[in-house]
Amino acid sequence: MKTAIITGASSGLGREFVRQLADVFPGIDCYWLIARRRDRLEEMAAGLPDKTVECLGLDLCDTMSFVALQEKLTAEQPEVTMLINNAGCGYLGSLGQVETSTQTRMIDLNLRALTAITNMVIPFMPEGSRIINVSSIASFCPNPRMTVYSSTKAYVSSFTVGLSEELRDKGITVTAVCPGPMKTEFLDVGRITGNSKMFATLPYCDQVRVAAGTLRAAKAGRTIYTPRLFYKFYRVVAKVAPVKLMVKLAKT
Ligand SMILES: NC(=O)c1ccc[n+]([C@@H]2O[C@H](COP(=O)([O-])OP(=O)(O)OC[C@H]3O[C@@H](n4cnc5c(N)ncnc54)[C@H](OP(=O)(O)O)[C@@H]3O)[C@@H](O)[C@H]2O)c1
Repeated sequence: MKTAIITGASSGLGREFVRQLADVFPGIDCYWLIARRRDRLEEMAAGLPDKTVECLGLDLCDTMSFVALQEKLTAEQPEVTMLINNAGCGYLGSLGQVETSTQTRMIDLNLRALTAITNMVIPFMPEGSRIINVSSIASFCPNPRMTVYSSTKAYVSSFTVGLSEELRDKGITVTAVCPGPMKTEFLDVGRITGNSKMFATLPYCDQVRVAAGTLRAAKAGRTIYTPRLFYKFYRVVAKVAPVKLMVKLAKT
């Protein structure tokens, strides 16, 4: 049975990926949904009567979750035709002013878990499969006050470009989506709400449209997908302008 694995499926953009996956990839019959809040995943599963849904309540900051996932993969040998690495977090706060565990949590989830899961799942992916990595506009230029977050997302975009070349011969495509701010739990979890002028002024992306556009971009085999014209333009500017100037403008 063709299987999709979606991390961070319990809220925000991840929920939208789950809701819309069948519109663009109707042939996938089994979903493995991953997040800590299993009750939320079970609610999602109840809304997908045509699919076989497995709810995996895993904390991806805990390396034991990798052991559990590897064991499940090895035991069940699924045919994974879609992997969506969506789980992520971003905390506002300069280095030295926020708890160390908060800064390292972004590395554990956005980098380590994404890398570990991708490495574990690729051997189960046949030709024609897709990987989607959720990056951010934060990957285009370092964002002071969110330096760790923007660095993790620079990794995600870079990882995507490298991996897509590695997997070209296997016929597996890899797409990074780079959305601007979205009104999801991310903003409250990251203590951004009410604390960032930048987030208060930037145009927002709608997660429903971001998910739809990303799934289409993955189907088309695109490597980097940036929703909204404003952010496509920002990506170009960030590429050509001196980084020392950009970093002053990109302060969160
Ligand atoms: N919202 C924005 O402004 C924005 C902008 C650009 C990019 N992004 C990216 O978009 C992605 C989705 O974020 P979102 O905006 O949809 O935020 P969100 O609503 O907070 O969703 C984050 C998801 O990640 C899961 N998650 C968090 N910590 C986890 C852990 N330790 N183990 C397993 N799962 C965990 C959460 O589930 P549980 O809490 O149930 O574990 C949730 O399902 C992230 O990669 C984020 O960096 C967001």
